[in-house]
Parts: sequence; C-alpha cells; structure tokens
Amino acid sequence: SNLLIDCDLPDRSSKDSLRPYASPIERTMHAGEKVSGPNVIVMVGLPARGKTYIAKKLTRYLNWIGIKAKTFNLGEYRRQAVHGYQNHDFFREDNQEAMRIREQVAKEALCDAFRWFDKEGGDVAIYDATNTTRQRRNFIRENCLPRGINIFFVESVCNDPEIVKKNVLDVKLNGPDYKDLAPTTEEALEDFVKRIRHYEDTYEPLDEQRDADLSFIRIHDAGKKYLVNRPGGHIQSRVVYFLMNIHITARTIYLTRHGESENNLTGVLGGDCDLSDRGMEYAERLGKFVEQENIPGLHVWTSQLKRTIQTAQFIDAPKEKWKCLNEIHAGICEELTYAEIQELYPVEFSNRDTDKFHYRYPGGESYEDVVARLEPVIIELERQNNVLVIGHQAILRCLIGYFLNKPPEDLPYQEIPLHTVVKLTPRAYGCDMVLIPLNVKAVDTHRPQPKNVGLHRTREEALETTPSPVIERRGEEAPIA
Ligand code: ATP
Ligand code: F6P
Repeated sequence: SNLLIDCDLPDRSSKDSLRPYASPIERTMHAGEKVSGPNVIVMVGLPARGKTYIAKKLTRYLNWIGIKAKTFNLGEYRRQAVHGYQNHDFFREDNQEAMRIREQVAKEALCDAFRWFDKEGGDVAIYDATNTTRQRRNFIRENCLPRGINIFFVESVCNDPEIVKKNVLDVKLNGPDYKDLAPTTEEALEDFVKRIRHYEDTYEPLDEQRDADLSFIRIHDAGKKYLVNRPGGHIQSRVVYFLMNIHITARTIYLTRHGESENNLTGVLGGDCDLSDRGMEYAERLGKFVEQENIPGLHVWTSQLKRTIQTAQFIDAPKEKWKCLNEIHAGICEELTYAEIQELYPVEFSNRDTDKFHYRYPGGESYEDVVARLEPVIIELERQNNVLVIGHQAILRCLIGYFLNKPPEDLPYQEIPLHTVVKLTPRAYGCDMVLIPLNVKAVDTHRPQPKNVGLHRTREEALETTPSPVIERRGEEAPIA
C-alpha cells in the first residue's frame, strides 16, 4: 500500500518488513502469563478530552505491573518541528503547509514507536494524538497490521462543556503552546476553542457499525459510560479494566508506615509484634493529625498485622484490613536481623543486594511479588476518594513507586522514615508528594544499597536459587499464594 512508511529499521527495510514480528515477546509475567506481540494504543478524541492524561496514567500503570510502555505524544513532535506556536490557524484543514508538517510528525512518531519495539523490546506504545480522522486511523492500521502489531483505540468523547472548559484552564493555558505568547486567559481560551472547532470540522468518531472489526474502548464524559468493542488479548483487557476504574475527582491519598514496633527496636525483620512506646505515641499523634486535616469521607486501610491495626486505633473513620497490605514476607529470614541473615545465609544476603527488586527470599517474596499482589490495592485506590493507607516499609515503597512513576529497580531503596505521613495529591499529569513528620522519635530501618556489591555476579547468577514453598507467617490466616 502507498500508506506504508519506511522507518529504516535494519532488518525490516525490505519486503521482510511485512512479516509479523519474528520473535513475539515471551516474557513471563508476574501472574505467569505470557504476553505476545507488541500493542499500539491509539488515543482518539478532540483536544482537551483527557487523552494525554489517560496516556500518561496508563503508561505509568503498565510499567508498574511490569509491561514495558511508552507514550509518543504528537504535540511534542509538532513543537520540535515548528518552534513558536502562533494561533489556531495552524490547525485548519485547509492550511496545506501545516497539514504536511502534521502528517510528517505523525509518521516520525510512529516510526519511533516501531524502533522502540524493535530495539528496546517495548510492549505497549501509546500513540497520543487526536487521530480524529478515518484517514489517520487507517494510516496507523496499514502500518501496524503488516508488522504484526496489535492495535487498540481509546477514544474519549466529552460533551460536558464544564469539564472541557476546566481541562483547558487546568492544562492548556499554562502549557507549552501559550508559554511564550503570554496571552491573557480570555485570549488563550478563545484561541483554544477555535482550535477545537477546526478538529470538530473533520472529526469522525469511532462507529459501532463501520468500525465493528476494530478493538476499542470509548469513554463518555470522563467515565459516565463506556463502550468496549472486541478487546483482544491479555494487555487489552488489563487496559480496559484499568480505564474503567479511574476517575478525575480531586482527592488526597495519605500513606504511612505503622508506628515503631518492638521488632524495629531490635532490628528484627517481619513478624507480628506490638508497637513500642514511641510507636504508640505516633498512633496517638496520627489520630490527632487526621482529625485536624478534617478529611471528608476518609477510609482507613491497614494490613492484617498488629502493628498497623494498633497504629490506626485512634482514628475515627471506617477501617478495613487488607491481607495484601502485609509486609514483604522474608521467608526463612523472617524474624532475623540483617546481621543474622548475613551470618546464617551469606549467599542469600549478597544476592539480595545484587538485585533487590527481583530477589525472592526462600519461602518468601520479592519486591516484584509484592507489586503483583498490590495491584488490587492500586485499582481500589484509583476508584476511591480520600484514603489513608497504614502499611509497612516495603509496601509503601511499592505504592509510592506507582504514584511517582519510579523505575522498578529504584523501589526497594526509597526512603520512607517511620512516624511520617506521606500526602499524595493527584494533578493533571502526575502527583504531588509531601512528607509530614509527626515529630515522634523512631529508629531508622532503611538499609542503603552497599557500594560495589555483587559486581562479581550477573543478575542471572544471583537469581539462581531453588524455588521453595511459602512459609506460613504468624498473624496471617493463610500463606500468600
Ligand atoms: P490535546 O489534544 O490538546 O493534547 P488532550 O485530550 O490530550 O488534549 P489533556 O491534556 O489530557 O487533553 O487534558 C487533561 C485534563 O483532562 C485533566 O485535567 C483531566 O482531569 C481531564 N480528563 C481526564 N480524563 C478525561 C476524560 N475521560 N474526559 C474528559 N476529561 C478528562
Ligand atoms: O525492618 C522493617 C521492615 O518492615 C521489615 O519487616 C521488612 O522485612 C523490611 O522492613 C523491608 O525492607 P527491606 O526490603 O529494605 O529489607
């Protein structure tokens, strides 16, 4: 087809490029499932419909659950190609020069996505543009299908003028296009509304009949209604599930570790002990703090372990105990100190330092395992409004990693001191984090990564441990599956 672009990929520049991907991704997932074939997620919708918001959030979520995802935002490609935005005329359909540039950057971004699949083993590329015409969507399909790439369209339709206006005011007027022009709010708003009009002139929404063969989800008015058509495969169903659970209502998420425990005082890992005296003092301060914050409709979630339940005791709000909020299970190393582990299991100890994210304690868990079991917590946090989670060191590291978009290997080394409240406020494209110490002294349980550790050993060698059954832990009703 004449729509097929040549991306100058080394082994795919000839007819070979029409062959489906020779070696589909066969990475084993947390749940033991296989992923096959890369996916392009194509955003569809008028300007200021939350496409970039959805793209970024989805990218963050997929990376966190171990699916390699990246957003390719056409607005950024356009600004690279044309410096200095002038006005809405650029987006007129009859502006031929601008149309040529827009088509060119659309090709460049798609080629970059293909290169990323090819060279970096990406799983999901999110193609973040308006893609409001059939012609553009056909161009994407003509290029993905022969290459064996799956396509999933995510369309956001929003006819609620209040939401659209709020979106423009929230993210567009302070965004990169208007930065240098410095128009008044009224001028910028007027220009952006005209920009939307130009797109409306040519918008062809996905159509239930005409597009019946395509895989897509259509989101109406920021989640009032959804239409899901032919979702195909594991990744697309995960995407649908995630998108059906997010919302845009402003709220705050509070996270804290339990108060200092008896085991923290002696450096013992895990177990199910009581709070220390200082830990109890923190619980009291936390109760007062929550009262002062005056948080509407607050829900408190703890683990099943005594130290988080005791920490919640002075809070006047509905409470729920989650098994999957229990601390990382250290298996044969439970209730030992780091020094004892180093002495009794020196190989295990050094293996953990080599690759702490993937290292699984014999009979216990890795951080990677913890992320997998925390997924329901993340989904439920997305669904809820104001929540306070009282958890543990490793648990909070993983949760914060999700909200702040941290790479997996950094999670196990996040510093989250005891007796500190972490306040997360979701923003349009990310999340603000503030740490609020409640000024009760506590031990420091953070153990930084030792320098030069494990350099003599590859990751594969370090992970060569025999799998072993999970040991039941005190205070827990059943072993972690
Ligand atoms: P453009 O085409 O100009 O890049 P866009 O569609 O990418 O615009 P965003 O920049 O993502 O729009 O707009 C961000 C705003 O959209 C956020 O304030 C967010 O609250 C809101 N938003 C998120 N999801 C939706 C949705 N499904 N419908 C409408 N608005 C949404
Ligand atoms: O020391 C407190 C603690 O919560 C232990 O129960 C747990 O094993 C440990 O922290 C997790 O931190 P790390 O993964 O750094 O050992």
